Amino acid sequence: MSERTLVLIKPDAVRRGLIGQILARYERKGLSIVAMDQRTIDPTLSDAHYAEHVEKPFYPALREFVTGGPLVALVLEGDQAIDVVRAMNGATDGRKAAPGTIRGDLALSNSENLVHASDSADAAKRELDLWFPGL
Ligand code: TYD
Ligand code: MG
Repeated sequence: MSERTLVLIKPDAVRRGLIGQILARYERKGLSIVAMDQRTIDPTLSDAHYAEHVEKPFYPALREFVTGGPLVALVLEGDQAIDVVRAMNGATDGRKAAPGTIRGDLALSNSENLVHASDSADAAKRELDLWFPGL
């Protein structure tokens, strides 16, 4: 079943010049880019996006990081796109993520880990409304 998911190519990836390499992986997989926008977000959007994490000890650093430079927000579409993109991104901690995944191949951090993707159908709906209202 075709689904849409919200993906962020986070500021560390933009800073490191990895936008093209990361996009190429999603394209090669057969996912469609429905929308794409480079922007620098404010703390309000960070708090809404990461609502489940705002009370956690790592959140202040995460907010600094995600608001600290441009990121690329994407809507990707394809069969089972939500789970497919999560698998392609790999485990949260780049040091533990499997080789062959984006984080496993390109990240060595638990906090600056290059990409975000919606983790469920409910999260995808919420995040798509937040980042691309009216799409
Ligand atoms: P989380 O939703 O657990 O991971 P994922 O991005 O794989 O869905 O956490 C959101 C982000 O918060 C994660 O990508 C990196 C950051 N983070 C930390 O900086 N430290 C931590 O201990 C955790 C769990 C996450
Ligand atoms: Mg998450």
